[in-house]
Amino acid sequence: MKTQKRLGILTSGGDCPGLNAVIRAVVSHATLTYNWQILGIPYATKGLLERKTVPLSLHSLDLRGIDPLLNMGGTILGSINKGDTLEHIDEILASYDALELDALIGIGGDGSLSILNQLQARGNWQFIGIPKTIDNDVAHTERVVGFDTAVNTIVDALNRLTFTAASHDRVMIVEVMGRTAGHLALQAGIAGGADVILIPEIPYSIEGICSHLKELRDVWRRKFAIVVVAEGAKVGNYSYYDTSYHTSPCGIGQYIANEIRTCSQDQVDVRVSVLGHIQRGGIPTALDRLVATTFGKTAVDLLAAGETAKMVAWHNGQVEAIPLELVVAQSPLCVAPNHYLVQIARALGIYVGKETCIHNVV
Ligand code: F6P
Repeated sequence: MKTQKRLGILTSGGDCPGLNAVIRAVVSHATLTYNWQILGIPYATKGLLERKTVPLSLHSLDLRGIDPLLNMGGTILGSINKGDTLEHIDEILASYDALELDALIGIGGDGSLSILNQLQARGNWQFIGIPKTIDNDVAHTERVVGFDTAVNTIVDALNRLTFTAASHDRVMIVEVMGRTAGHLALQAGIAGGADVILIPEIPYSIEGICSHLKELRDVWRRKFAIVVVAEGAKVGNYSYYDTSYHTSPCGIGQYIANEIRTCSQDQVDVRVSVLGHIQRGGIPTALDRLVATTFGKTAVDLLAAGETAKMVAWHNGQVEAIPLELVVAQSPLCVAPNHYLVQIARALGIYVGKETCIHNVV
């Protein structure tokens, strides 16, 4: 007869720094406080479908006495961000029973949480979700695992690019991630001193960008500029996103660069940096480790209390449990055009799109 509760844990969707810190917190707390058996499920629902598990114990996480998971990027469980999970619902539900799981913790972004929510509802699983994403677009939580590290990675890149831009009087275009939500570009752009921030949610014009750059040069005597553009920022209704990483060397950053060159009749020297998956790497910041640890510990306590179909969420400095149904219904959460950070950016003279007021200083 089974005596120990069998807890499964999986990471799903694009990886980000802090996932291993969640796994560490879950394994530590579930072992030390509740004496549960923890089974890692490799490659998210693919592992579930294939009935694969990896036993996770405090001993198995130990490397020569060092506990590396707190500051290790990526996920030791592996992940998938594309798949045909919904075509295999019945097999996955059967796998869950075959593996004799009593409960499951799923760490994912908006897409993964939506799929896992459907599975847990159909299978009547005991399930708790933990939000992670460098896009910061999961609704009902002020913090998600991975976002802070990605913001800091971009800010670090902007710090470096600012000095080379200034040395050569150049406009530096920095393309960052964010297909539908511009939180990453907006927050990193403000924190990193950008002059222009373009996000998928807010329309902009090439004329607006160019006149802002001209104003910087002619009025403020700034000979260089930093433009941060989210990969999903649109040209009319068209998004470069689908091709930018996969088949075409030309994304939105390159498009904006070409337009600025044309607009300035090649008088402005422009360069493009596409940060790409660098934004998903690196060791998690202290804040991401704290969020990961808090979320992991809380998810275990929620399961111990008999809760299910909830997501742990950060709200007003506290961790709460929000019904997954609500989270899924309102995600992905985009930047509202009147978002307070958009207003702050504009107040500081950053061009964030069409409604920007041009300084009346000429
Ligand atoms: O959702 C996270 C994310 O990093 C997005 O910001 C980005 O658009 C996408 O994943 C990239 O996905 P892939 O890893 O498939 O290139």
